[in-house]
Amino acid sequence: MMRFLCFTALSIQFLLLVTNCLTLNDSTTTHHRHECNQHESNALLNFKQSFIRSKYASYSPFSYPKTVSGIPTTDCCSWDGIECDELTGHVISIDLSSSLLYGFMDPNSTLFSLVHLQSLDLSDNDFNHSQIPARIGDLSQLRHLNLSHGNENTFSGEVPPQVSQLSNLLSLDLRSYTLESRPYYLINNLQLKASTLTSLTQNTTRLEHLRLNFVTISSSLPHTLTNLTSLQMLSLFNCELHGEFPLGIFHLPNLTVLDLGENQNLRGLLPNFFSKTLVTIYLPRTSFYGTLPTSIENLTSLNWFEISSCNFYGVIPSSIGNLTQLALLDLTNNSFDGEIPHSLFGFENLVNLFLDYNFFEGHLALDMFLKLKMLNGLGLSHNKLSLFSQNRAVNVTTLPPIQ
Ligand SMILES: *[C@@H]1O[C@H](CO)[C@@H](O)[C@H](O)[C@H]1NC(C)=O
Ligand SMILES: *[C@@H]1O[C@H](CO)[C@@H](O)[C@H](O)[C@H]1NC(C)=O
Ligand SMILES: *[C@@H]1O[C@H](CO)[C@@H](O)[C@H](O)[C@H]1NC(C)=O
Ligand SMILES: *[C@@H]1O[C@H](CO)[C@@H](O)[C@H](O)[C@H]1NC(C)=O
Ligand SMILES: *[C@@H]1O[C@H](CO)[C@@H](O)[C@H](O)[C@H]1NC(C)=O
Ligand SMILES: *[C@@H]1O[C@H](CO)[C@@H](O)[C@H](O)[C@H]1NC(C)=O
Ligand SMILES: *[C@@H]1O[C@H](CO)[C@@H](O)[C@H](O)[C@H]1NC(C)=O
Ligand SMILES: *[C@@H]1O[C@H](CO)[C@@H](O)[C@H](O)[C@H]1NC(C)=O
Ligand SMILES: *[C@@H]1O[C@H](CO)[C@@H](O)[C@H](O)[C@H]1NC(C)=O
Ligand SMILES: *[C@@H]1O[C@H](CO)[C@@H](O)[C@H](O)[C@H]1NC(C)=O
Ligand SMILES: *[C@@H]1O[C@H](CO)[C@@H](O)[C@H](O)[C@H]1NC(C)=O
Repeated sequence: MMRFLCFTALSIQFLLLVTNCLTLNDSTTTHHRHECNQHESNALLNFKQSFIRSKYASYSPFSYPKTVSGIPTTDCCSWDGIECDELTGHVISIDLSSSLLYGFMDPNSTLFSLVHLQSLDLSDNDFNHSQIPARIGDLSQLRHLNLSHGNENTFSGEVPPQVSQLSNLLSLDLRSYTLESRPYYLINNLQLKASTLTSLTQNTTRLEHLRLNFVTISSSLPHTLTNLTSLQMLSLFNCELHGEFPLGIFHLPNLTVLDLGENQNLRGLLPNFFSKTLVTIYLPRTSFYGTLPTSIENLTSLNWFEISSCNFYGVIPSSIGNLTQLALLDLTNNSFDGEIPHSLFGFENLVNLFLDYNFFEGHLALDMFLKLKMLNGLGLSHNKLSLFSQNRAVNVTTLPPIQ
């Protein structure tokens, strides 16, 4: 806490008004800083003590047991991973991510008495297939809830409908994810009812990040999702979604990441794009269909465009050449045809280009690929191209590999 001590000196002789401000460090305020309330401290200790430490509980290489050993004082506000409100002293943030915690989550855990919590991150610990407690709904101030796991999620069963009461949420992350790029072997342990998802979209209107990879939803997406105008990241990889994807989601003004991969029965069209915010479009192994719109030129921030094994067809519009930020373009296993537009060979940042298993035709000279200075992976096989027919991933050894 800083205080400003100001004084003015008026010098009549020189008709000068001099104002000086001294910045004083108010040492007394640090002593008056609120310590953690006794009952909150007990609640936290109690919560911690319901788990044991296991080196297998967390997958992050940077895991360590926060606040476990040698707790220095009873003031929980000074514990690692705990943050308190400076004025009230209430615990407002718990970050026990990758803390090697192992054990059941008590449905009536003392954790739920910490009703001032705004952020709860228990990601990457092993909750031994507990259910997510319904009392999570008691934490009505929550803005961030992270129960994701760096392998398959160790919570299981139904996500309680009470999450939809958390109307202040900005981010909800219940994902299973891996550090590997192709996490197909993970298992869905959590289920989210369609009605809960609908309530969630009606109530958490300020949501920015919604990440539910490997949470079984088994329904179509509610159109109310398009009402989440603050949405930046929507990750629904492998959620067993079906039905038609609400087109309006593409038009959300701040959307940067759209990950809908591995939902084989999810149908959808690409819209007329006018978004400049989209960075990632990740739709592999869905039933998205139709053609690539000319308006794709408007996606000037797009870095990752992966639509392999979908039902797209038609020619690639030459306006794709406007996507100068692209690092990955994967159109494998669709029904695209016609010639590969020359504009595509102007990408300076392209690292991976996969066009295998389509009906592309024409003659291609290797020289064209030499212009793609960053190129490291190239796939042109199973097309009607004259130069590279039947070769999976032409080995472009003359080009410098990345890193
Ligand atoms: C105030 O105290 C803090 C920490 O004790 C120190 O980092 C900072 O430089 C001090 N500021 C002034 C203006 O003395
Ligand atoms: C984890 O669950 C298994 C099977 O239900 C049980 O035997 C074991 O005691 C549990 N471990 C902990 C630490 O809760
Ligand atoms: C939950 O815990 C509180 C005290 O923390 C207790 O009063 C209440 O009876 C418990 N409820 C259940 C269902 O165990
Ligand atoms: C949730 O936690 C994981 C791992 O700790 C982290 O990678 C991820 O970014 C977090 N999610 C959100 C939405 O912040
Ligand atoms: C929305 O949030 C409010 C306040 O938390 C809650 O009372 C209501 O039940 C929630 N609605 C739904 C549909 O979950
Ligand atoms: C979006 O919210 C408004 C009210 O805020 C509501 O009238 C409308 O039906 C919602 N739209 C959808 C698609 O649910
Ligand atoms: C979109 O992001 C901008 C810049 O961060 C912000 O000012 C604006 O409020 C956001 N729009 C919505 C609807 O959240
Ligand atoms: C690109 O977006 C603008 C609006 O920002 C729109 O008017 C234009 O039609 C779009 N381009 C194409 C080719 O559709
Ligand atoms: C796409 O590139 C063409 C040619 O360079 C340019 O005229 C056009 O304005 C670009 N479109 C967008 C949306 O940047
Ligand atoms: C192409 O996609 C279909 C599903 O659309 C899938 O069954 C098939 O295995 C894929 N083929 C290749 C070579 O990836
Ligand atoms: C590409 O060529 C390099 C050097 O000859 C070789 O080490 C590498 O294994 C090759 N990669 C593939 C995919 O054939």
